[in-house]
Amino acid sequence: MGKRYRAWQVSEDGEGTFTRSLIDKEFDGLPAGEVLVRVAWSSLNYKDALSASGNRSVTRKFPHTPGIDAAGVVAESSDPAFAVGEAVVVTSYDLGMNTPGGFAEYIRVPAAWVLPLPAGLSLREAMLFGTAGFTAGMAVAALSRTVPPERGEILVTGASGGVGCLTVAILATLGYRVAAVSGKAAAADFLTSLGAGRLLSRAEAVAGNERPLLKGVWAGVVDCVGGEILAAAIKATDSLGVVACCGNVASPELAINVFPFILRGVSLVGIDSQNCPMAHRREVWQKLAGEWKPKQLATLAREVDLVDLDPEISRILRGEQQGRVLVRVAP
Ligand SMILES: NC(=O)c1ccc[n+]([C@@H]2O[C@H](COP(=O)([O-])OP(=O)(O)OC[C@H]3O[C@@H](n4cnc5c(N)ncnc54)[C@H](OP(=O)(O)O)[C@@H]3O)[C@@H](O)[C@H]2O)c1
Repeated sequence: MGKRYRAWQVSEDGEGTFTRSLIDKEFDGLPAGEVLVRVAWSSLNYKDALSASGNRSVTRKFPHTPGIDAAGVVAESSDPAFAVGEAVVVTSYDLGMNTPGGFAEYIRVPAAWVLPLPAGLSLREAMLFGTAGFTAGMAVAALSRTVPPERGEILVTGASGGVGCLTVAILATLGYRVAAVSGKAAAADFLTSLGAGRLLSRAEAVAGNERPLLKGVWAGVVDCVGGEILAAAIKATDSLGVVACCGNVASPELAINVFPFILRGVSLVGIDSQNCPMAHRREVWQKLAGEWKPKQLATLAREVDLVDLDPEISRILRGEQQGRVLVRVAP
């Protein structure tokens, strides 16, 4: 291990402008923590793009290295639970937010954030899932607890994005019928290849939303976008359906009435991958590594190097990413 390592860094120029570059950093700039990980792979999530563009609700201080995901090998550990050379995964907690993240050759983190690489996954596959796939797994876990595949069709919104496409693929793997909402007409073949049986435009997804309740057509919903699309989806959820609320790329607002809840027993479930307790985190990762692993996993991502991140950040902020972006750090 040399004295310096490569990291992708976001800096502020003092006038609200943020610049991004690949630099060499000193190890002593890393925070305290029991486990030093040499990062092989990371991945791009929406939150990384917010951090990389100076969003203070994600990252307070700059310069900063984003990357809420990392998979690699333990380089040093003062915790007996982790041995040097062990393959590990670190996602969420504070990684990449106010702790230097996975867009660098090394991270140093508390042992409590570190998950041994689940059997059945390579480091690369773990990052094909990343936080997006883990969030999809949490949503499917919440939904499948009470909604079996025979109950009916599941609606997935923001379907061509990271969380959305993995949700479609996992649900289809488990035998659910899936309807996918996408703003990208060109993503139709991609979504069909993942197992979506029906495709809806965003306009179709909000049709009739001015009414207090819509015909109950969805057995469940996994929503990545919030706002009007989520409100309409809740109103169109059938009796005892479950709606998992994951994201807010369209809007953090939710204008809804109580009818879906008191007339149909619909449940609205919040998904928070960041603070998911380690015991549940392990369970979900084990499922992702086993019976929930979509056979199309390898086809879901494009692979980029750290130097190529800039245009990918802009693309995800415009809602134009299709599938996942896998970041090759030092495999
Ligand atoms: N709760 C959690 O723990 C958790 C974890 C991870 C992510 N998230 C959140 O989940 C959301 C999705 O994250 P991601 O990483 O999957 O992002 P992503 O890859 O950018 O996917 C988001 C997708 O939403 C759709 N979309 C974008 N702008 C939209 C708009 N204005 N109206 C309607 N749909 C729009 C697009 O898909 P189409 O073109 O196919 O419609 C886009 O690809 C984000 O809000 C993120 O912060 C939450």
